[in-house]
Amino acid sequence: MNRLESLVRENIRALKPYSSARDEFSGSEGVFLDANENPFGEFNRYPDPYQKALKEKLSQLKDIPSKNIFIGNGSDEIIDLVFRIFCEPGKDKVITFPPTYGMYEVSAGINNVEVITVPLTTDFQIDFKEFYRQTEENQNIKIVFVCSPNNPTGNSIKNIEKLLKCNAIVVVDEAYVDFSGSPSLLGKLLNYSNLIVLQTFSKSLGLAAARVGVAYAGETIIELMNKVKPPYNVSTLNQKAALKALKNHETTRRHLTMIYKERKRVYKALMHLNQVIKIYPSDANFLLVEVKDAHLVYNKLVEKNIIIRNRDSVIKNCVRITIGTPEENNQLINELKNL
Ligand SMILES: Cc1ncc(COP(=O)(O)O)c(C=O)c1O
Repeated sequence: MNRLESLVRENIRALKPYSSARDEFSGSEGVFLDANENPFGEFNRYPDPYQKALKEKLSQLKDIPSKNIFIGNGSDEIIDLVFRIFCEPGKDKVITFPPTYGMYEVSAGINNVEVITVPLTTDFQIDFKEFYRQTEENQNIKIVFVCSPNNPTGNSIKNIEKLLKCNAIVVVDEAYVDFSGSPSLLGKLLNYSNLIVLQTFSKSLGLAAARVGVAYAGETIIELMNKVKPPYNVSTLNQKAALKALKNHETTRRHLTMIYKERKRVYKALMHLNQVIKIYPSDANFLLVEVKDAHLVYNKLVEKNIIIRNRDSVIKNCVRITIGTPEENNQLINELKNL
């Protein structure tokens, strides 16, 4: 058994996956009497279980073979799948670097997996000394989750490649990478069989409603994901919406340019406000802002129908503000001026 196989749960290694009607016959022409579908209607047929057209388009754009791509019902589905493939409930452990995206911990809880936290340093980077200490002290660490650019701090994480030397799966969540100038870890995919890069259609591509997340990884990991996922996990409507978004390069580029510009403008405008103590530099589509009183700022804005995220529970007196349209941002700035 190789290093990667030894990380997989025994029951998953032995699992004989469900074979759907579309697994057994994948052609698109014919009289289809094999899947107990209703012969009438517009949405009567099951979706392509392997999202071939969408993967081909992604493959072209990212220069990654289709066999190294997995599509999930949002990245959140993929995070849960990774737990179910690699972590034995009640026995295995994962590492996270808080403050970070909350779903790693929630998914761990759902799967009864212990989370070892290695807090980010004061400049929101990885504390490698503590990371190595934890990996030496703990057996059964199966997954390391790192989010870059990180939510809610907004910064890119440095030296991620150093994590890949450990004997665990490393999930690099790049949900916000398109808003940053930092390169994706996708270029390292061929070098590390334990690397999973997560990206999503929910942020830069503006498709949060459609629930489409993407994992890029070696073939072995993608095969395991295909084995464990529900057979028709991404609807035809969502596959079509995602494909359309990929074809609309121009619109995406225009929106990204607008978001960069607004991020800069909102940053400058907030800097001068009485309530604001510090604004952290951001590689994402949001700003982490330290204010004098996060609860007050949050509640006053809610009264004006402007909803931001109060992150005081994770970083003292900090709020996270998503960059909106220029009009929305003006409303935010005006209300904050009046505080
Ligand atoms: C870091 C990070 N990863 C993943 C997600 C969820 O992505 P998806 O909408 O693809 O499930 C979010 C959503 O806010 C996020 O911040």
